[in-house]
Amino acid sequence: MTFAIGDHDFLLHGKPFRILSGSIHYFRVHQDQWADRIRKARQMGLNTIETYVAWNAHAPREGEFDLSGNLDLGAFLDAVAAEGMYAIVRPGPYICAEWTNGGLPAWLFGDGAGVRQDEPRYMAHVDRYLQQLAPVLEPRQIDRGGPIILVQIENEYGAYGSEKSYLRKLVAINRRIGITVPLITVDQPVDDMLENGSLPELHRTGSFGSRSHERLDTLRRHQPTGPLMCSEFWDGWFDDWGSHHHLTSVDETAHSLDELLERGASVNIYMFHGGTNFGFTNGANDKGTYLPIVTSYDYDAPLDEAGNPTEKYWAMRDVISKYAPVGDEKPQAAPEPPSFTAPLRSVLPLWSVLDLLGDWTTHDDLPTLDSLGHYEGFALYRTTIDVAGPAILRIDEVRDRAQVFLEGDSIGVLARDHHDTAIPLPADAKGTLDLLVEDQGRVDYGPRIGEPKGLIGEASINGEPLRGWSVLPLDLSAIDRVSHALESAGAPSVIAGPAFAGATFDHPGSGDLYLDTSAWGKGVVWINGFCLGRYWSRGPQRTLYVPGPVLRETGNQLVVLELQAASGSDVSFVPAADLGHTEA
Ligand code: GLA
Repeated sequence: MTFAIGDHDFLLHGKPFRILSGSIHYFRVHQDQWADRIRKARQMGLNTIETYVAWNAHAPREGEFDLSGNLDLGAFLDAVAAEGMYAIVRPGPYICAEWTNGGLPAWLFGDGAGVRQDEPRYMAHVDRYLQQLAPVLEPRQIDRGGPIILVQIENEYGAYGSEKSYLRKLVAINRRIGITVPLITVDQPVDDMLENGSLPELHRTGSFGSRSHERLDTLRRHQPTGPLMCSEFWDGWFDDWGSHHHLTSVDETAHSLDELLERGASVNIYMFHGGTNFGFTNGANDKGTYLPIVTSYDYDAPLDEAGNPTEKYWAMRDVISKYAPVGDEKPQAAPEPPSFTAPLRSVLPLWSVLDLLGDWTTHDDLPTLDSLGHYEGFALYRTTIDVAGPAILRIDEVRDRAQVFLEGDSIGVLARDHHDTAIPLPADAKGTLDLLVEDQGRVDYGPRIGEPKGLIGEASINGEPLRGWSVLPLDLSAIDRVSHALESAGAPSVIAGPAFAGATFDHPGSGDLYLDTSAWGKGVVWINGFCLGRYWSRGPQRTLYVPGPVLRETGNQLVVLELQAASGSDVSFVPAADLGHTEA
């Protein structure tokens, strides 16, 4: 089989072919659920699945490249092929996607490598990365009998830069590793973005979610021949902590899709199924105010976070059925998950388990977390102070949130999104000063990509530099050790953070659950060692999605790291997701 770009159409083995694609990010969906989500895409009438590749998920540290388990991209693509569908792969290197650092590994920036530009150190890393992907992608292209029909170069590069030599080098590397299918670019349909983000030898596509005719006209002006494609048809949107839950109109989305298909254009629906920012994988925006993305990536997509078809699914299926066969199979929604509670049976203050969470290092001045090789989650910065009279603690910049403690007593919070840099300490402050710092997710769009995390710059009290720090990056991959320690810990009277609390519960069904976090303040939850992600009373999100495959029938172990305060001492599961208030 071959796939090519003709004068008017994509050509599948020489015949005109309309791509009806939907985005599913394998790294946001539990691997045991991939096949189910892909099948439901086919049942909506789609013929192709698109995924980004998140470089930093595969390469969390320099020299590592993990293709196992939930990162088994080859198995994901095989599941697409098994459903009789085609695949579009977007390996970046930059992907945006509301994913931490837009997919770029944080360790890249340590030796001063450039970002998204033709800079030798950066290009050498990109070269190695694409070579590591080659054994997965090369044999799975359509001309080798696999499902891949298109590969994308970079991502909305025209919104960031205009360096053609960078794009040309990316093309050369892709060709050198054996990518033979057509290469595309995606840009917002704005004149200079379309101009800057591509090359004559690349096929341009657009990203938009409304006003399809106007956007396709703009795209056409920049590319007089070849198939029109919206390769990110935004059918919903993401949420930030502190904002509202975004919903888009089913009717308007269906109408824009109809316009697009009526024009004969190809489409990739972004997202078909959004999934979840499990663990510490969410990105953030910062166009003046830092806005971290919530844990759910439901996206108000046709298939919701738990894989159930929504009203939008049926409306889009109806539209697609006007242009292509959708078949007779229709997916069913899963049975409603059970509602039950389990007691939080034990609690351990964070201070009592620091030995389980890594090793301290000492520094004269504040190190960034990146300089310590710690690229996600939390770290404790500790020093000793002795100040007479009133005292103001100042930190040049906090990335992204620091809880301040004196002798273990909570003083307050310095929050990046509030642009906080100073906090008063009690008069005659003396003793151990701790700052528990959270990296709330790396910026994924714009010039702040790659910035280091932690306490940045200088710390001072009343203008006097504060030197002599011990720093403990919290290794939360070792959560099993905490879980074990919780087994012999005391029962909670109250859960005053920062503290770990544990619960055990049975789940005699195989389905998903929704964990209700509305009685908790801010923190992170694990079940059976699987990190569900962050919760925050700030909202909008009030429940966390628990994929059925991480659960067992008896003895499920839940660990919560509560940073602030939990009211009540139960864990509560509810029958439906609550992603929070909407704008209306
Ligand atoms: C752009 C990017 C995507 C994603 C969407 C918003 O189109 O290309 O990665 O960030 O915006 O969801």
